[in-house]
Amino acid sequence: MCGIVGYTGKAQALSPVLEGLRRLEYRGYDSAGIALVVAPGEALWIEKRAGKLANLEQTLGESVPDSHSGIGHTRWATHGGPTDTNAHPHLDNEGKLALIHNGIIENYVDLRSELEARGHIFTSETDTESVVHLLSDARKSHHGDLAAAMREVCAQLRGSFTLLAIHSDEPGRIVGARRNSPLVVGVGNGENFLASDVSAFIAYTKHALELGQDEVVDITSSSIVVTDLAGTVITPREYEISWDASAAERGGFPHFMLKEIYEQPKSIADTLIGRTAGLDPEITAGIDLTGISKVVIIACGTAYHAGLVGKYAIEKWANIAVEVELASEYRYREPAVDSQTLVIPISQSGETMDTLMAMRYARSHGARVFAVCNTNGSTIPRESDAVLYTHAGPEIAVASTKAFTAQLIAMYLIALHLGRVRGVVTKELSDEIGLELAELPSKVEQILETVEPLRALTRQFKDATSMLFLGRHVGYPTALEGALKLKELAYMHAEGFAGGELKHGPIALIDQGTPVIAVMPPAQSALHEKMASNVMEVKARGAVVIAIGDADLPSAAHNIRIPTSHEFLQPVLAVVPLQVIAYEMAIARGNDVDQPRNLAKSVTVE
Ligand code: G6P
Repeated sequence: MCGIVGYTGKAQALSPVLEGLRRLEYRGYDSAGIALVVAPGEALWIEKRAGKLANLEQTLGESVPDSHSGIGHTRWATHGGPTDTNAHPHLDNEGKLALIHNGIIENYVDLRSELEARGHIFTSETDTESVVHLLSDARKSHHGDLAAAMREVCAQLRGSFTLLAIHSDEPGRIVGARRNSPLVVGVGNGENFLASDVSAFIAYTKHALELGQDEVVDITSSSIVVTDLAGTVITPREYEISWDASAAERGGFPHFMLKEIYEQPKSIADTLIGRTAGLDPEITAGIDLTGISKVVIIACGTAYHAGLVGKYAIEKWANIAVEVELASEYRYREPAVDSQTLVIPISQSGETMDTLMAMRYARSHGARVFAVCNTNGSTIPRESDAVLYTHAGPEIAVASTKAFTAQLIAMYLIALHLGRVRGVVTKELSDEIGLELAELPSKVEQILETVEPLRALTRQFKDATSMLFLGRHVGYPTALEGALKLKELAYMHAEGFAGGELKHGPIALIDQGTPVIAVMPPAQSALHEKMASNVMEVKARGAVVIAIGDADLPSAAHNIRIPTSHEFLQPVLAVVPLQVIAYEMAIARGNDVDQPRNLAKSVTVE
């Protein structure tokens, strides 16, 4: 939620700030704004507009002054609607201090009334504006030291935040802080960056620094100082970004989502590399996986569906009980957790607040935490005992595709690993799954090569009011994911059901012409016939059935063929046509594919 970027250095600041905002727009696109330091002691130059970044860009024209330091923000609105006034940056009453914020300041109401009583004039409805006024006062009492002021202010804030501030009396200096929201430093040559994630500055530098909880960072073009809130200097972890700027560009595809769908053969192969015969001991060095009595997977959205598939694999191959929990529900029911519980948070971004909070709850009750994450340097892996990184590369489209299939791969790898640690998986099974996993990239490739007719078929259903998805076994979470993709992209009512559960209620939804997508278990599976019966049940009530499977289903109106695979691995293949259906439906209905309405990719508020 909300993208944040700051630049200080030799270049004209507008260019890297705008470039950063373009790359961060996936985080929120309700409004955008930029503030630049123009001359010492003068009012800051500021421009902000409701709507997408393009609105702001249109207003910039030739009027932007020379500046070598500035900050930019792209917003996902929480407190106050998406208007010009509520857009960030927010200014102090002198117009010399600007602040941008990602997160929620929970005590903003109290702060605001205290500040108003002290004479501060507020212009927006945001929680953020309280912080800029507070910072303004604190800076005065710290004799103009913005970093010292930031430390003092952060100690007074409740909630979650990434904050960046500039002051025109201190040109070239940007001060940032973070608590429960992401912030990374990009280390350049004669220039430095601060941003919500590395994609913002990847075109300029691949050298990054990770910031910890409650840390304040103070940068100029030639210095970076990180401290805790008490002012003690901290040495942050350095890392190199392993992908190029081109990975975060559309590369000839009309949308990021399509590009990411087509990247899946590579992202699956990259996630598998060197791991099918067992996880590298370096990965599991920080965690003891013996003596575990249960596994709890916590995740949100698409990652939750990957977790549901993981349950089938871990229970079968490692013979251990698995619970899969929506992260947002987990900690508030105060579940029983102990040191024999293995918690697996799954998160593409590594910053999802619900997942982070659930994981912290489990950790504080003694659980061991083995994260699955796609983003190096993010908070969830940093706070885990061990992490299995998915190598999907940057995922920019809001609707997750390649990160999901990479998460599935991670689940299979962890299931096999736990099975080996527990001595319950045979060498034959482990070898068989290893071979099957290795074949997935080329099988996904085959699906993508033959997907064109599915796009035409999808358009036939563009005016449907509802679409249902059925599956059994691992096909059930696949159906849930298909329905979620369609909701996100087509804004169409869509639901996923377990095939066997249909007759217990959902079948009442079936009417003449209702499109139903059936994720068929492989033809050799014992469940194939059962699912075929479920298809007959909906067909008898008027449904138009599109079957996805490794053999044609005669009763279906349309068949989408996917290659045969091991039953447990089938979601990696079956989800691809479901992604394509959602993509095509979004286009057919005139929707924004990469930035669907009301959503944000990285949800850093609860
Ligand atoms: C948001 C995104 C979803 C994503 C979910 C979890 O809701 O829109 O696409 O699945 O967050 O994100 P994570 O980064 O934790 O995997």
